[in-house]
Amino acid sequence: MAKRVLVSGGAGYIGSHVTVELIGAGYEVVVADNMSNCDMTCFEGVKKITGRDDIPFYQIDCCDYEAVTRLFDEQGIDAVIHFAAFKAVGESVAEPIMYYRNNLVSFLNILEAAKNHGGCNVLFSSSATVYGEAEDLPVTEQTPRLPATSPYGNTKQMCEDILRDVVLATAGFGGAGDSDAGVAAGGQGPVKGIALRYFNPIGAHPSALIGELPRGVPNNLVPFITQTAIGKRECLSIFGNDYPTEDGTCLRDYIDIVDLAKAHVAAVSRMIDGRMKEGYEIFNVGTGRPVSVHELVTAFEKVNGLKLNYKFAPRRPGDVVAIWADTSLANEELGWKAERSVEDTLASAWAWEKYLAGK
Ligand code: UD1
Repeated sequence: MAKRVLVSGGAGYIGSHVTVELIGAGYEVVVADNMSNCDMTCFEGVKKITGRDDIPFYQIDCCDYEAVTRLFDEQGIDAVIHFAAFKAVGESVAEPIMYYRNNLVSFLNILEAAKNHGGCNVLFSSSATVYGEAEDLPVTEQTPRLPATSPYGNTKQMCEDILRDVVLATAGFGGAGDSDAGVAAGGQGPVKGIALRYFNPIGAHPSALIGELPRGVPNNLVPFITQTAIGKRECLSIFGNDYPTEDGTCLRDYIDIVDLAKAHVAAVSRMIDGRMKEGYEIFNVGTGRPVSVHELVTAFEKVNGLKLNYKFAPRRPGDVVAIWADTSLANEELGWKAERSVEDTLASAWAWEKYLAGK
């Protein structure tokens, strides 16, 4: 029987692409989302792309433990991919209580339900933000994490540690159906975990039916670029051109959203098929190639044959100069590699923006 994966935050940008790839790989998917930061556009897109009108959808808040545990009771979950979190760095600085409460409580609830339902595999969506301004580049999974510079970044670090601790604490519990080990009282079982540290996810599905849908003024670069190109924003500001890089703008590792989604499928099958080497593992998910902000803007113009209105502006507080991934571990252990070119990714981002404009 097909294994069932719960995707919390599955109606959002990354969650919707992951849902498509999981279904394509033969998994059954259950989506949970409280719709606090998205509408049904992407979930409808997922249904169209997959041709599946019957994907179970729970409009619940993962901060509501009763609702989460009911979902587990009803669905029999083999793995969870947890995306349900707030993600705006600036907002987290202004609203730390809201960020800590939402991002920590929802994850704790998922873990508790996972543990209490005979154990489960849990994939946490972490971020390269945990490395901060790393000294040695590219960063490997062994690169020390630096103190977080925002509550958002702190919740990523804390959730990684919580997952590690829960894996350790539950390692001795027998799994469901593991009668020799004896499932602990209340049907508890071991939690296994993988944290994927994403670099900068960009782009949209080749069908242009799902993509990034920021509310209000985008914080992230690519939605700001596409909204400027379509005329929703007047001018893109490139934050800082006096950084110690070749062209003076920051360097990032932009990872295509479909490639990123495929890394989730690789990680989930590793967990479900029992191929993990440790109960808790971490993988960088990037391309391994640094691209400057100015290069990305120029590539966007070239591939889409348009001129973008942009200017150089002062540095944005909190930005690191440069970060990119060493992806050898993910390449070797997950058998996964980023494949789509940055040009194709930028063309897909533009196609998605035009699709939205025509809706
Ligand atoms: C941020 C978060 C990261 C999160 C990611 C995706 C931090 C420090 N960063 O990454 O954790 O995973 O978003 O949500 O926590 N830029 C401009 N003009 C703009 C917007 C951005 O020049 O209008 C530049 C930025 O200065 C930066 C680059 O583009 O150099 C990428 O910015 P952005 O897309 O916001 O991602 P990060 O800040 O790298």
